[in-house]
Amino acid sequence: MKDYNYATQAEYYDIVEGNTNVKDFNNILNKLLKKYNIKSVLDITCGTGAQAIFLDKEGYKVTASDFSKEMIAIAQKKYPKLDFKQGDIRNAKYGKFDAVISIFNAIGHLSKPDFGKAIRNITNNLKTGGIYIFDIFNLDFMKHGFIKEEFIDTLKEVDGTKFVRFNKNTFDSEGGVIHMNQKTYIQKGLSKPKIFKDSWDMQIYSSDELKDILEKNGFEVLEFLDMNGDKFDKNKSLFILTIARKK
Ligand SMILES: C[S@@+](CC[C@H](N)C(=O)[O-])C[C@H]1O[C@@H](n2cnc3c(N)ncnc32)[C@H](O)[C@@H]1O
Repeated sequence: MKDYNYATQAEYYDIVEGNTNVKDFNNILNKLLKKYNIKSVLDITCGTGAQAIFLDKEGYKVTASDFSKEMIAIAQKKYPKLDFKQGDIRNAKYGKFDAVISIFNAIGHLSKPDFGKAIRNITNNLKTGGIYIFDIFNLDFMKHGFIKEEFIDTLKEVDGTKFVRFNKNTFDSEGGVIHMNQKTYIQKGLSKPKIFKDSWDMQIYSSDELKDILEKNGFEVLEFLDMNGDKFDKNKSLFILTIARKK
């Protein structure tokens, strides 16, 4: 699997990826954490802090960690109150938490064997009965909903700078791997645009596969939802939001 290099675009991540969905999703996450009576949370792929900062402000006891030092540096600058740590979801250990989260397709960066390693490591960071919450693109949806044509997924203007991102992706539906090819144009006024090209692989799953992997690694699935907190629909939901409990 070819990795995504967050170092190149960390500076622009919040603008390109940040949108009203981040706020809406945080409210859904908060409701879920309250429902399961969670007090301590490890955000093990915190990126620039989209969930960790919100949860800390909401009064949870938060530990935040990510693989990318560039992403952490941005999170740390935005929110000095938390000590953002550098660690790998496959082996980082920070204690025993009520919940571990990895949000916004973060596990898609891992190959299937590495996702197995990550899940086993997450059990090390969870109390018995603790929950793991994560999301990933839904393979069953992608089998009919994948966009083969080039498309734009981001179009924004912030303080006179335009951000446009094109996708021309391919999909191996057998292996469940999306080969992402993205091109981002960043243009201040009418100056020469900066153009970033990225290509990487994203491993995605069906809900049946996730259930199987989780059960083989000591979890039971409590809920599959979509990203707006509604009941997950195998054929219609773009994402699978999984809530699993360590047995
Ligand atoms: C799409 S971003 C999501 C970040 C954040 N949760 C959000 O919603 O904005 C995925 C994050 O996963 C992190 N990541 C990728 N592989 C990782 C690994 N092996 N261990 C820890 N973090 C990893 C990346 O550095 C990146 O910050």
